[in-house]
Amino acid sequence: MAEQKLPKLKTRVRFPSPAPSPAPAGLTDFSRRVIRWQADFGRHDLPWQDTRDPYRIWVSEIMLQQTQVATVIPYYQRFMERFPDVLALARADENEVLQYWSGLGYYARARHLHRAARQVASVGGHFPETAETLQQLPGVGRSTAAAIAAFAYGQRQAILDGNVKRVLARVFAIAGNLAQAAVTARLWALAESLLPARNIEAYTQGLMDIGATCCVLRNPRCQSCPLQELCEACRQGAVQDYPAPRAARPVPEKSFQMLVVAHQGRLLLEKRPSQGIWGGLWSFPEAAEGEDPAKILKERWGLEGRPWATLPPLRHALTHFRLRIHPVCLAVNQGSVVTEGPGLQWVETAAVPMAAVPMPVRKLMKLLGEFAVDHPDGVL
Ligand code: ADE
Ligand code: SF4
Repeated sequence: MAEQKLPKLKTRVRFPSPAPSPAPAGLTDFSRRVIRWQADFGRHDLPWQDTRDPYRIWVSEIMLQQTQVATVIPYYQRFMERFPDVLALARADENEVLQYWSGLGYYARARHLHRAARQVASVGGHFPETAETLQQLPGVGRSTAAAIAAFAYGQRQAILDGNVKRVLARVFAIAGNLAQAAVTARLWALAESLLPARNIEAYTQGLMDIGATCCVLRNPRCQSCPLQELCEACRQGAVQDYPAPRAARPVPEKSFQMLVVAHQGRLLLEKRPSQGIWGGLWSFPEAAEGEDPAKILKERWGLEGRPWATLPPLRHALTHFRLRIHPVCLAVNQGSVVTEGPGLQWVETAAVPMAAVPMPVRKLMKLLGEFAVDHPDGVL
């Protein structure tokens, strides 16, 4: 079949312009407002702001992915003291990295960070220099890569973390919830279109700061927000409607026993498999509700022991479920064989809270102190 001839174009092709945004007047104004506001009212003394070192910025961005600034700061400072550069982090063993992350939660972040550091070390410690190549590091998504590229290299890249999504959804009154791919795609397109020609660092920080200080989830402070005059949600008096809440999923509760097994001033810790919650961390052994702890001691480790105290249940909230932990203290009989293996160790009681343990283990250690739980033989 003969190739069909296309009609000759008489004029230059004109692509349709993108659909007008709900606040077209604001588009050019937007970044100017953010940048000016950040200079006067934004945050300027965060410990990762005095550097262009991509390593320091990367670590901060990973810690800040799911954790608030105030919580991150002391962790960040301790981490930087111990692992001042990417080679120091690469040289460390995973257990020590997790120890410095202990209590921050979302431990896959620490394992990815460590793996990424080794990746960077394997190419001579040379850090990726573009948002695209940064994204190839484990744990670095599109928004994190953009933030690092902007702060470390001044590259004009759009971020879109949870806070920025909320700001944009409100300013542009974007319907739909953030779990919808179409909504996220729309927000990314907006984020790209709003980028300033210059001053990407102040702009990026300013957007984060507005999200964290003005445009907070509940009761945003629109009166002190530099975007108020442009904000469609605010104009509608419907700030609470954006972004639309996701369908509420019931959060199931998991209830189990945590066994505090004591022997000669030490407690038994088990290494958790790298998949699942607290992956790679050390924690107290667990047992299902109703299981006989002494029997478990015998079956799993061949230890003879007896329960001597139970504590009130501990609650701990995770993203997808809530935990209800029933602590049971057990004493191992004198002379009973004590096993230790690659996934099992006895740790001095006083050292347990400093080990690579999840938050409930620390809480439990604190409770033991508060309840003045004494071991029957005088040591715990
Ligand atoms: N959240 C994510 N990145 C941040 C940063 N660099 N400063 C403050 N909050 C943040
Ligand atoms: Fe958020 Fe209010 Fe600012 Fe709009 S005006 S961006 S709702 S703080």
